[in-house]
Amino acid sequence: MAKKVGVAILGLGVVGGGTYKTLTEHKDFYIRTQNVEISVETVLVRRKETAFDLGIEEDRISQNIVEVVANPAVDIVIETIGGCGVAKEYVLAALAHGKTVVTANKELISKYSHELEKEAKRNGCGLYFEASCVGGVPIIRTLLDGVQGNHVTEMMGIINGTTNFILTKMAQDGADYEETLKEAQRLGYAEADPTNDVEAFDALYKLSILSSIAFHTKVPHNKVFREGISSIQKEDIAYGKDLGYTLKLLAIGKNTPEGLEARGHPTIIKKNHPLASVNDAYNAVFLKGDAVGDVMLYGKGAGALPTASAVVSDVIYAATHSDVKYSTFKNTATADANVKFVSDFKSAYYIRLEVEDRAGVLAKISGIFAKYGVSIIEMVQKSKEEANNGKIPLIFITHQTTENSVKKSVAKINELDFAKVKTTIRVEA
Ligand code: HSE
Repeated sequence: MAKKVGVAILGLGVVGGGTYKTLTEHKDFYIRTQNVEISVETVLVRRKETAFDLGIEEDRISQNIVEVVANPAVDIVIETIGGCGVAKEYVLAALAHGKTVVTANKELISKYSHELEKEAKRNGCGLYFEASCVGGVPIIRTLLDGVQGNHVTEMMGIINGTTNFILTKMAQDGADYEETLKEAQRLGYAEADPTNDVEAFDALYKLSILSSIAFHTKVPHNKVFREGISSIQKEDIAYGKDLGYTLKLLAIGKNTPEGLEARGHPTIIKKNHPLASVNDAYNAVFLKGDAVGDVMLYGKGAGALPTASAVVSDVIYAATHSDVKYSTFKNTATADANVKFVSDFKSAYYIRLEVEDRAGVLAKISGIFAKYGVSIIEMVQKSKEEANNGKIPLIFITHQTTENSVKKSVAKINELDFAKVKTTIRVEA
């Protein structure tokens, strides 16, 4: 006899609607394969028509959270509203009523998981959030239940589909950022206000959650370095390509002897790097464990059904486990203390300048790099045909150096009247 479990879905947008469909259409399959009968007891919506459109009858629709969390037939509350307004209030209300919560909300978990987890523990219920990071790619389950025997030393990922779509199109079509963003909006990949994705806030929240779990500590969202893609220029993608590189928005977490690094920014990688071939709206996460070595997960990081797949995996986990497994703060004692973050992290750099083409220019620029300890691996001078106002592009790839050394060199070069730094982009090996 299958175990009966009742769920409530808060919000029936893209993810909530996809979750409703997945749970409903696979109901018999979960009875057969998981021995659990999951019924959607109620949905909470602002507009009832959204629920009617999915074939949900009036008596399963609620517009009152108090009624939802007090419903004894509801064991698990699925939150797919998003943001930190009512979503936080509703999640806390559900936990206070002893309901296990499954959420797809990265901002909520990144900012408030400590408070929510405390409330969950106080009431003996679960808090699961696989869908908050990288959509259908089971990265949280992998960190918790797949590579947990390892010290995870490094994590590098393409964890935002919108920006990956834009950067892929810019590279393929030689198009500029603004034009490609408009195309991404027209095709439904980017939102009307794209800030959250293109300025890497979405990646920052996800990286704070993933690196907290991977490194068994708390990586607060405000400790994650963030830089978006809106100032990326098509020239840099093209010049990078000529040198054998691909440009991606990477989320990088490193557990180094000097401390933790958590950063999301445009990054140039060699075109034979496993992440270089992750294109369009696809996501991937590349991990290094001290026992397993390299592991890479690849898939759809957004969309109704891929995200529903992650939500449902948490629902099934919660429904089939009587003990609760908390995902974060494994070492609660050091959750907020003694964690050292590296701010002046080391990286190799791609640096593009525009310079006058005459004797002594290169000597002066390389002298400045030398003064600040920035060592050059490769230098390319472009032809006069590619000049801008008579100044030709000069591209340097550096060895690993600190952020500060690059900033100081750039400031010094920009004091020269015959040379200006146009772009600096970090390079990962
Ligand atoms: N907007 C995100 C992306 C998906 O483009 O990947 C949800 O996190």
